[in-house]
Amino acid sequence: MAAASGRIAAFFVAMAMALVAAAGAVRRSEFPPGFLFGAATSAYQIEGAYQEDGKGLCNWDVFTHTHPGGIMDGRNGDVADDHYHRYMGDVEILQSLGVNAYRFSISWARILPRGRLGGVNSEGIAFYNRLIDVLLQKGIEPFVTLHHFDMPHELETRFDGWLGTGIREEFAYYADVCFRAFGDRVRFWTTFNEPNLATKFQFMMGLHPPNRCSPPFGNCISGNSFREPYIAAHNIILSHAAAVRNYRENYQATQGGSIGIVIAMKWYEPLTNTTVDILAARRAQAFELEWFLDPIFFGEYPRQMRKILQSKLPTFTLEEKKLLQYKADFIGLNHYTAIFAKDCISSPCNLQTYEGNAFVLAVNERDGVKIGGDTALPGYYVVPEAMEPAIMYVNQRYRDTPVYITENGYSQWSTESREELINDIERVNYLKGYVTYLSKAIRNGANVRGYFVWTLLDNFEWTFGLSVRFGLYHVDFDTQERTPRLSARWYQEFLTGSNLTHEPQAWRADS
Ligand code: BGC
Repeated sequence: MAAASGRIAAFFVAMAMALVAAAGAVRRSEFPPGFLFGAATSAYQIEGAYQEDGKGLCNWDVFTHTHPGGIMDGRNGDVADDHYHRYMGDVEILQSLGVNAYRFSISWARILPRGRLGGVNSEGIAFYNRLIDVLLQKGIEPFVTLHHFDMPHELETRFDGWLGTGIREEFAYYADVCFRAFGDRVRFWTTFNEPNLATKFQFMMGLHPPNRCSPPFGNCISGNSFREPYIAAHNIILSHAAAVRNYRENYQATQGGSIGIVIAMKWYEPLTNTTVDILAARRAQAFELEWFLDPIFFGEYPRQMRKILQSKLPTFTLEEKKLLQYKADFIGLNHYTAIFAKDCISSPCNLQTYEGNAFVLAVNERDGVKIGGDTALPGYYVVPEAMEPAIMYVNQRYRDTPVYITENGYSQWSTESREELINDIERVNYLKGYVTYLSKAIRNGANVRGYFVWTLLDNFEWTFGLSVRFGLYHVDFDTQERTPRLSARWYQEFLTGSNLTHEPQAWRADS
């Protein structure tokens, strides 16, 4: 019986792979030489070992323990994927996939448990040295994020996260410690991951620590949803520029790397062909992407934001504008989805939403037809064809600055059956679709240099805890067993032209 079900399962995998292959084929050879193909992760989401080897507590350690109700399943990242202890095996997985780059983030609290005033934790440095060295031995380029949502708890308490200006010096110091310790081997740095999304989650919606907001948003003890996201963003933009200045002046010439920033970018498609909706889509993008990239590249917030927000939007002093001359060598885009934008200036809408401050309503249907297929995460629809206009838009606006797609991926609910979770044909189709449109964009002249799947392993998905899964590899959080999904097989075949050598462990169930 068990053997029979094993055969059926193996048959199913073979059929699914055949379907995947037959469904026609974007090829790695369509991408320019040196193009980076990788997978991405972040420290808090995978490392675990939250109190080991001198690491300080980070904001998410404390938040998940003190606000378990803020996490869908009440879980936390204390252990997560236990990557801190299993990194060697995880790098072997990366190698077996055939990637030539790996995007990960450094845990600030592992390096500087108490920030600038405490010492540097040598065991934290040693961990990332080991990780970087083993990646390089395997021919995998480390693509390193300095800040991916987590910071030492002590700093968050002292400065209310990114609200207090003192956090800028703290970040500058942390970045310097990292450039000095790892920069001889790291050629790709990014300062921040998705500050445009993070500052809204932290200071508008009150969902992420330090969970600050004001009515009618969320349920926070204090905050101001209409001002604080912009103050935090201002500090982040200046922290980015200061880190770039330091890297350029003190490290780049000898270390030879490049430095950028990662922004979350949805594609906003006008709901109708009317001028007001076309302008609404542009405005939504201004409040989302250009909010950070315009100051970084042009030294000023976008016109639409200045006009609407007026005194709620901070202004750059002359001194700060000088600092903004230090821009970015490349732009990282986390691109997952697209949505319709409906104007809310000419007609009334409920504005207490993510896009509300831009007087835009995000709508998922046009004439009763959804913009794309559903994924587990609400608001994340499958719209692969949006990849091309999104990249073209960024290339045009930021004058051909190189772009890396630093995240792109598909989510499933953990409650799906094990077979559905492993035979993730929808994820295969999602990835294939997006990579196909990426290759099309490149053919049409887009300056894109790399692509990273989010994510290597199922992991701690922030407010969704462990209930949502994005991995190429399934993780059993009780045993830490990693099982390649169909999507891992697809990616490996796309990257190397051959199949994963080992059978997915899931199909050992009948033994
Ligand atoms: C973040 C990741 C997150 C992913 C899926 C991005 O917003 O950078 O940390 O897991 O999206 O939600």
